[in-house]
Formats: sequence, structure tokens, C-alpha cells
Amino acid sequence: MPAIRVAPSILSADFTRLGEELAGLKPAGADVVHVDVMDGHFVPNLTFGPPIIKQLRPLTDLPFDVHLMIEDADRWVEAYREAGADWISVHAEAVPHLHRCLSKIAELGAKPGVALNPATPLSAVEEVLPLCHHVLLMSVNPGFGGQSFIEESVDKARRLSETIAARGLSTVIEMDGGLAPDTIRAPVEAGVSVVVAGSAVLGREDRAGAVAALRDACA
Ligand code: DX5
Ligand code: ZN
Repeated sequence: MPAIRVAPSILSADFTRLGEELAGLKPAGADVVHVDVMDGHFVPNLTFGPPIIKQLRPLTDLPFDVHLMIEDADRWVEAYREAGADWISVHAEAVPHLHRCLSKIAELGAKPGVALNPATPLSAVEEVLPLCHHVLLMSVNPGFGGQSFIEESVDKARRLSETIAARGLSTVIEMDGGLAPDTIRAPVEAGVSVVVAGSAVLGREDRAGAVAALRDACA
């Protein structure tokens, strides 16, 4: 099995102790911090924006993987980069000019990625695949943590992995939603290398044990 990077989502953190929660992720064995930005329009939930991300940024040296579940993302990518985003994912369903938006993210010095909802076909990203550092496949409908993994996501990851290989690209496949020790193995076998986990890490007391359980499940 290939090595995975574990990206805990701070959506499942205790927001009254967000700084401590974030600082504890690296000692727990996490590789990347997944930051879920929701605007209450593109998704039916609201989280946080650039000022909070900026305050969190100095508390860890792990990369910040900012998942923008927002309308009009094109207008906001600069602010998120300035706040400290290292990876920026925008949704294909929310950005009409993906080519321009991904190019802008790269010019800002961040790693660009496209996120796809479960109902969105892979063809939505095919034309801009060479511009993507990563593709974020949603394995739940975005908006909330703690939802059940959608099994069809495994086949989608497999097909994307085949396309990436056939085109000689090195695009990273990230998966987000419902990933836990009992669901992680099949997507990783299918080509997912960055695993987002909200409730499976920050929803548990023993974070180091939770990260280890994810790695063990696909060893
Ligand atoms: C959902 C978010 C996810 C969420 C995952 O809209 O994009 O990142 O935090 O949470 P779990 O792992 O609990 O499904
Ligand atoms: Zn996310």
C-alpha cells in the first residue's frame, strides 16, 4: 500500500480551544491541516474566513489545506493566500472560470486544486487537470462533518487515478468525507493519497491513536 498523508479537518475541533487543538495535530502525527471554509450559500453551513485562519497560521508549521466551499471563490483566493493557505481547493460547481482561478492560485504561490461534489462527474476537471496540484473528491455532500461515506467515491477515485496515469500527470488525489479506519482502505487502494478526516481524528479523545488507526487500516 502506498503511503498516505493524513489531513485532520478542524471542523470537528473544539472551537473554544481551537489554538490548542491545532497545535496538537503535528505531535499526533498529522501531515496536513484541512481547513473547511463554508459560506452558508454554496453549502448550508457557515464556518470561518481569512481573519481566523490568519490567527491560526503561526500555531503550527503543517501546511494549511483550505477547502473553499464558497460562491465567488475567484474573488477570495488572494485573501485566503494572504491569511496563510498553502493549498487552496475551489469547487468546480461554484467557479465558472476554473482555468483563470487555478492559474491565479498558482501565481499567488499556493497549490491549486479542484473539489468535486459526489454528483459532479470527473469531466468537470479534465480540461484543467494539468493546472491542478490536487483534485479533492468529496465522498459526502459538503456542509457537515460526521456524515456517512458514499461508496461510489471509490470507483470515482479509481477512474481519476487511471486518467492521471494515462496523461502522465502527478496530480494528487485527496478524499474528504466519512473517512475512518473502516472506510479508508478501498479509496487508498484506488489511488487516494491525502485522506481528510474530521470526526475520525478530532472527534476522538486520543488524536495520536486516531491518526495511527487510519494509517494502520491501510498498511
Ligand atoms: C464536509 C467537509 C469535511 C468534513 C469531514 O463538508 O468538507 O472536510 O470536515 O468530516 P468527516 O471526516 O467527519 O466526514
Ligand atoms: Zn473539507
